[in-house]
Amino acid sequence: MEAFSIRGGTPLAGQCQIQGAKNAVLPLLAAGLLCDGGIRLDNCPRLKDIDNMLRILQALGCKARWDNSAIELDAGGASSYRMPRELSKQMRSSIFMLGPVLARFGQAEFTYPGGCEIGLRPIDLHLSSLRAMGAEIREDHGLIHCKGRLHGAQIHLDYPSVGATENILMAAVTAQGDTVVHNAAREPEVRDLARFLNACGARVRGAGGGTIHIGGGAQLHGCAYTPLNDRIVAGTILLAAPMTGGDIFAKGARAEDMQAVLSKLRQMGCLVSQEKGGVRVRAVGRPRAVRRVETNPHPSFPTDMQAQMMALLAKANGTSVVVENVFENRFAHAGELNRMGADIEISGRTAIVRGVETLFGQRVASRDLRGGAALVLAGLGAQGETIVDHIAYIDRGYERLEAMFAGLGADMQRVETEA
Ligand code: EPZ
Repeated sequence: MEAFSIRGGTPLAGQCQIQGAKNAVLPLLAAGLLCDGGIRLDNCPRLKDIDNMLRILQALGCKARWDNSAIELDAGGASSYRMPRELSKQMRSSIFMLGPVLARFGQAEFTYPGGCEIGLRPIDLHLSSLRAMGAEIREDHGLIHCKGRLHGAQIHLDYPSVGATENILMAAVTAQGDTVVHNAAREPEVRDLARFLNACGARVRGAGGGTIHIGGGAQLHGCAYTPLNDRIVAGTILLAAPMTGGDIFAKGARAEDMQAVLSKLRQMGCLVSQEKGGVRVRAVGRPRAVRRVETNPHPSFPTDMQAQMMALLAKANGTSVVVENVFENRFAHAGELNRMGADIEISGRTAIVRGVETLFGQRVASRDLRGGAALVLAGLGAQGETIVDHIAYIDRGYERLEAMFAGLGADMQRVETEA
């Protein structure tokens, strides 16, 4: 089984090029189903989740292939509205294909994506939104049967769900009549999807804000598009600067999409600057604890950075409180950090993190994607060797993380370990 071997203690310094965002590329590929003509997405990261999405699209009859770091997709030959069971179960985020498949074929058949390591991941907001647009949806023994011609609607989301907002955008652009989404997700990846759809001929206004207007009846053509860079990968890499006492420049990082994280780094005493097309973070002594980190929808502190921030706070000077408001089971990394000498106490959705001077290398196991990345950060800032197991989780969201950190001076390799 593959693992990362990390010998910590080296201050990391230098420049790292940030890859395209997994959580932007995935919905853009789904939107390709709506286009009459091929699309080309440049600067895409080679990740398991993206390969899975390509296999799903191929199973629906699309032509999809890599061209170096670009993806070429032509949905002209798409003929099936049935999502392949195994593939869609492996990647629950495929649920945002429901909208485009339904819009394209007038029907769709999906298996319930089910939960994952971080929570139950319900899809009620997706289904209620599509029903509001005229879809007849029957749920039967784990299968979801949808059919109907979609029409515009006024939709209010009880919770600003990223995936549900993306599903609605993709279902609404070709629906009969206009749609308005209230309490929409404001994440940058939603704005990127709207920008892509408009580049293909759609009329989406207000994405990035809480109310989005979508003109219906669009005839979408293909286009070439470069997805936005990954703000979570950038945040993960930049946290390694205070974790190791280093100085890191993340080229391609967009500070405007990362303000909540950068603000916490400043509160911890780091020097944070926006420079020539990226963001630089310099450590200044031991990071200070922060009173509170609360995860909430964008532009608040992102849940996808909670684990990584907890790893950093574990070494900070003082006690911090971390509250995870988005997912119900996203503290699995805390136990593994404590095995490295951290002092973290969990009570429901709240973690009390009492900073310690030193973390010690240990053999630890990733339990989910961002928790695994947090353990890598802890290993980089620990004394001695850390082995991080189950790195397949990490490979879902980071392309060759070991190469990124080694390029900044880390003693980190991908190794084989006995199961
Ligand atoms: C997206 O997931 C991201 N995934 C997640 O990133 C990210 O953590 C999440 O947004 C929040 O920012 C992709 O974009 C592929 P949500 P999504 O719908 O769309 C509840 C990663 O690490 N909810 O905004 O599934 C849900 O239970 C992944 O890259 C409902 O109750 O997130 C959760 O508590 C992990 N009903 C909250 O909303 C619904 O119908 C946030 O979910 C849908 C969601």
